[in-house]
Amino acid sequence: MGFLKPCFLILFMCCWVASVNGIGANWGTQSSHPLPPQTVVKMLRDNGIQKVKLFDADYGALRALGKSGIEVMVGIPNDMLATMASSMKAADKWVAKNVSDHVNNHNVDIRYVAVGNEPFLSTYNGTFLNTTFPALRNIQAALIKAGLGTKVKVTVPQNADVYESSTGVPSSGDFRTDIHDIMIQITKFLNDNGSPFTVNIYPFISLYLSSDFPVEYAFFEGKATPVIDGGTTYTNMFDANYDTAVWALQKNGFNNMGIIVGEIGWPSDGDKNANNEMAQKFMQGFMTHISGGKGTPMRAGPIDAYLFSLIDEDDKSIQPGNFERHWGVFAYDGQPKYTLNLGTTNSGALVPAMGVKYLQKKWCVMKDSARLDDPSVANSVSYACALGDCTSLGYGTSCGALDAKGNISYAFNSYYQKNDQLDQACKFPNVSTITKDDPSTGTCRFNIMIEPYYGGADRLVGLNWILGMLLVLVW
Ligand SMILES: *[C@@H]1O[C@H](CO)[C@@H](O)[C@H](O)[C@H]1NC(C)=O
Ligand SMILES: *[C@@H]1O[C@H](CO)[C@@H](O)[C@H](O)[C@H]1NC(C)=O
Ligand SMILES: *[C@@H]1O[C@H](CO)[C@@H](O)[C@H](O)[C@H]1NC(C)=O
Ligand SMILES: *[C@@H]1O[C@H](CO)[C@@H](O)[C@H](O)[C@H]1NC(C)=O
Ligand SMILES: *[C@@H]1O[C@H](CO)[C@@H](O)[C@H](O)[C@H]1NC(C)=O
Repeated sequence: MGFLKPCFLILFMCCWVASVNGIGANWGTQSSHPLPPQTVVKMLRDNGIQKVKLFDADYGALRALGKSGIEVMVGIPNDMLATMASSMKAADKWVAKNVSDHVNNHNVDIRYVAVGNEPFLSTYNGTFLNTTFPALRNIQAALIKAGLGTKVKVTVPQNADVYESSTGVPSSGDFRTDIHDIMIQITKFLNDNGSPFTVNIYPFISLYLSSDFPVEYAFFEGKATPVIDGGTTYTNMFDANYDTAVWALQKNGFNNMGIIVGEIGWPSDGDKNANNEMAQKFMQGFMTHISGGKGTPMRAGPIDAYLFSLIDEDDKSIQPGNFERHWGVFAYDGQPKYTLNLGTTNSGALVPAMGVKYLQKKWCVMKDSARLDDPSVANSVSYACALGDCTSLGYGTSCGALDAKGNISYAFNSYYQKNDQLDQACKFPNVSTITKDDPSTGTCRFNIMIEPYYGGADRLVGLNWILGMLLVLVW
């Protein structure tokens, strides 16, 4: 029967390629007004996005993904790692509730469990160093017990800072010295279980952190001064970074391990290098770069990647920077921010979310008669920005050119919209008023919020509102 083998092999290859090919997206849900999960799933399908990565086992998202045909990676947040590590029973329960139930009873195509999210990030100071591996082992054991050991693979999405290159070229790549041993243990465990190595790669962050970073090296147009590594030439950071991972794996004996790019993207606001033009240039450059399936210099073949991210999230922490709330290819309301051909639809254009319901066309702004030196202005703005979202203000951002009054209005409106246009949310003492004239100018959009989706997020908004009332009363 030897002659059948090549046929079988070709069939197998074609199907394997088909299942890892295509693009994935990260679907985060840290939004004050998330789109209804069914709307998001339709949007994923309309755009030919075949894989989705969730940061936790969001019940609404998982239910909506049932029968969608979309492959799912579901995450365990870092703050649950200690529990998963210390209790096999907790791991069993997590798998039963958050994987088995969805797979067996609701046709959710869960393929991966992401144990932690960048748990070894240097800025975490080793907080998750002792719990990640035990949690990973327990979840793997729980999956096997649940009969899902073959279908569902475990992985640990790492930041690219888990490896480094002593000389700056990919071939010197190895795991970071302080976590070398634990990285070997984890990678060996993943490899033994047929699981992939997952890494998040961020040229934007490199540019953000270092003014010396050559801008063009972040992109894919071949315009950067090349990095020469032996006989290989690198003109973009993605290839070089990915190959540093390949070298780090090879050096430690993991020659053929699968690699998933868990996050790749570029934000569109909140920093001088974050705007629609640069985001478009990066995203389209990346999609075109990987579209031929030729891979990187060190690793030929299709790249398995998840865009970061699908939709903006206005409740994310801005500790990393103001850009953090602007990673979406789509804005908060599911509308595309720029043109992007994912190579997955006939038209080559992004398809917006359908049937999105907006609140009324009204805005909260600073009163014409109010004075900039009114004593209530400063407190009102800092309050509005703390609970609203002022990340589009500041140097080089979409609303960076507003004057002082525009700034104040922007802050008020953000708070007002986030609180569902409640009259009480536009009562900054003596200085605010509601208008029906759109204050947007140029690149600066004064957004109108979408209708709240009562699937669980309403409670937060309610709390925010009560807090707001208290503060307004105090003044
Ligand atoms: C399932 O996942 C959710 C979301 O991360 C979490 O809140 C919940 O505790 C998990 N359930 C179990 C039984 O662990
Ligand atoms: C890590 O350590 C630095 C410096 O000691 C500190 O500023 C930071 O808050 C710590 N971060 C965490 C997540 O513990
Ligand atoms: C991890 O374990 C080591 C050795 O047992 C210990 O010294 C360290 O404090 C632990 N780290 C954390 C964050 O618990
Ligand atoms: C507007 O607000 C931003 C961010 O708070 C600030 O950097 C900028 O200086 C302000 N502009 C004016 C004209 O007040
Ligand atoms: C609002 O304006 C009135 C009259 O000008 C003034 O008496 C009052 O103190 C102001 N309130 C605040 C909170 O600034």
